[in-house]
Amino acid sequence: MGFSVTLENKVAIITGAARGIGLAVAKRFVMDGAKVVIADVDDTAGHEAEEDLKSLGEATYIHCNVAERLDVRNLVAGTLNAYGDIDVLVNNAGVVAGSSFLDLDEEDFDRVLAINLKGTFLCSQAVARHMVEKVEQGGDPGSIINMSSINAVVAIPDQIPYCVSKGGITQLTKTTALSLAPYGIRVNAIGPGSIMTEMLATVNSDPAARNKILSRTPMQRIGEPSEIAGVAAFLASADASYVTGQTIFADGGRLPLNYTVAVPDGD
Ligand SMILES: NC(=O)c1ccc[n+]([C@@H]2O[C@H](COP(=O)([O-])OP(=O)(O)OC[C@H]3O[C@@H](n4cnc5c(N)ncnc54)[C@H](O)[C@@H]3O)[C@@H](O)[C@H]2O)c1
Repeated sequence: MGFSVTLENKVAIITGAARGIGLAVAKRFVMDGAKVVIADVDDTAGHEAEEDLKSLGEATYIHCNVAERLDVRNLVAGTLNAYGDIDVLVNNAGVVAGSSFLDLDEEDFDRVLAINLKGTFLCSQAVARHMVEKVEQGGDPGSIINMSSINAVVAIPDQIPYCVSKGGITQLTKTTALSLAPYGIRVNAIGPGSIMTEMLATVNSDPAARNKILSRTPMQRIGEPSEIAGVAAFLASADASYVTGQTIFADGGRLPLNYTVAVPDGD
């Protein structure tokens, strides 16, 4: 039997998919045959993404703030209304709030944790309830993928709530995976290194920032969103049928590296 990564006729919700890594995952899933729901708070970018993806296959935009329980409930209902099922959830929506430890506002701490960590819990619980019901009626189990980060393991001193939220995602991934394993529902995470999206925008214009990143990147380049989408496509597919509770790091070799590597000259 040949190698195949396909999501033919699967229904996938991807949060934070109006741009960046989420949009790349949505695009890859549509190309692999999935019907995709783009969930985001940026309605303009979300509708643009929907139009873009409709030229490749099935896609729908639904407004959803993942930190709001009622929005999440509407997301699940809207997806079932549009496509009648949910096979895959990618919890990708995420934000940062940079500040030194001593100056960090309580509001920023709460906001980042509410979106990155609680939002992942709310979406997972709402979708898992549907998935479990489906399994109990003899249907196929689905799969959940959480967007973590290398910052679940290493840390940045002025990105406190972000690093805390991603550390939490490691344990949320494990506890959700163990809770849903009896139903055959798989739960995994992806830990990207530095990926070229708006989250990393300053790097384009700041050689010092670029050099800092590359000195900690043995593969000597910043990653592309499509390289994270490939890992998501694998985890969502039947090829990953015995993989659960794991975080796969796609980081160009940063986590195994102690010290730094030489940086090639800028382009
Ligand atoms: N870019 C990187 O280098 C990198 C590295 C490691 C991990 N990640 C993770 O990947 C994910 C995507 O990052 P990105 O770089 O594509 O970011 P991005 O800022 O380009 O996109 C994030 C998307 O999430 C949406 N969003 C923000 N708050 C939301 C909310 N409350 N509800 C729903 N949607 C919301 C935004 O509107 C946006 O479309 C994040 O979880 C991030 O932590 C990114």
